[in-house]
Amino acid sequence: MADFSQVHNVDDFKRLARDYLPRPIFDWIEGGAEGEVSLANNRTAFDRVRFKPRTIVDVSTRDQTVELFGKPMSSPFAIAPMGNLSLFWPNAEVAMAQAAVAAGVPFVLSTASAVSMETVAESAPGGRLWFQLYVFKDKKVNRSLVDRAAAAGYEALMITTDTHMFPKRERDRRNGIGLNLKKTPRNIAAVLARPRWLWDVVLSRPMPKLANLEREVSGPTTYEALANYFLSQRHQGFDLDDLKRLRDQWKGKLLVKGILNVEDAHRAAGAGVDGIILSNHGGRNLEGAAAPFEVLPEIVDGVAGRIPVLLDSGFRRGSDVIKALAIGAKAVMLGRPAAYAVSGTGRDGVSHLLATMKDEVDRVQGYLGCRTLAELGRDLLLFDRQRPGANATMI
Ligand SMILES: Cc1cc2nc3c(=O)[nH]c(=O)nc-3n(C[C@H](O)[C@H](O)[C@H](O)COP(=O)(O)O)c2cc1C
Repeated sequence: MADFSQVHNVDDFKRLARDYLPRPIFDWIEGGAEGEVSLANNRTAFDRVRFKPRTIVDVSTRDQTVELFGKPMSSPFAIAPMGNLSLFWPNAEVAMAQAAVAAGVPFVLSTASAVSMETVAESAPGGRLWFQLYVFKDKKVNRSLVDRAAAAGYEALMITTDTHMFPKRERDRRNGIGLNLKKTPRNIAAVLARPRWLWDVVLSRPMPKLANLEREVSGPTTYEALANYFLSQRHQGFDLDDLKRLRDQWKGKLLVKGILNVEDAHRAAGAGVDGIILSNHGGRNLEGAAAPFEVLPEIVDGVAGRIPVLLDSGFRRGSDVIKALAIGAKAVMLGRPAAYAVSGTGRDGVSHLLATMKDEVDRVQGYLGCRTLAELGRDLLLFDRQRPGANATMI
């Protein structure tokens, strides 16, 4: 087991990941769209809200369980869907799913995973597994992926709606990351500088590919062929009819990820989805997109009475999680923190991350005077009203 005695927070995991991964791969996780302004704002948005704790309260017993879809989550966070995880650690999807199941929190498997949804489900029994769907132009492929997720026992289907355009991530362009890492002298040097990664991920086993798509496409199933299919089949025409069709097909819980506009939230609720995830894809897609935390009050006020509102993008601390729950979110998702944690340390790293976040949530909840998360409310928050035009529903 790796030594985590000096790993106290997400930044510590990030340092470990930077030391383990070749620089272009680390940059691919870390980077955002264009000038990375939205990426940075995802973090600073939390600083504009501070706590007004209640300290004359008995908090000698505390519980951070939340109930979602009639079942408990041991902590109010889940692991967000991320593609190509096995580039960071062999079978990282399985490692993450097993760590999440052991911690009692949901794991969301990406369409673009390198381990198939069936294998992940078999390897992590008894937990809450959700499958994230990128909607393709070919309805037969969507149908087949949805049917497979149902057959494999996934509890929820999460449709991502914010990645229909190909994002402009300038770190990746500079580093020569397209379908593959370009074999430039700089990249070769970056890979050779990380021999442990080179052995673990590249030399000791077959290169990861898009395992969920292997059974869906006719023709060659090399990584390049599948990645090409993936990119060329993005469904830019996705609309409410597509959403309703998927609602009809999928009998389990249906979530939509990528909402930032209250109008979309209403439309999704009206289409019969079971929950929404506010997200700007971790600042990776639309530069200038608001932080989900900034639009949370407005969207909670709009739809939280009808459906649960979850969110991701920028959550790194238990205090961030508590702020979102106090505004009215049901739970949050962690993206990059889990990607850093799995890099080089696998399941143990992810377990340590989840335990660290759980500990932070517990501490903040105790400081605030809340025995349960249901006791959180906006009265515990001080909103930064310095900005022109700011009010209680804006952050
Ligand atoms: C390396 C990486 C790959 C991702 N791949 C996917 C994906 O396949 N599907 C998806 O819906 N979101 C994907 N996302 C977005 C995450 O699900 C999530 O929205 C985002 O990471 C949350 O922000 P955070 O990283 O600041 O926690 C990816 C994010 C990262 C960092």
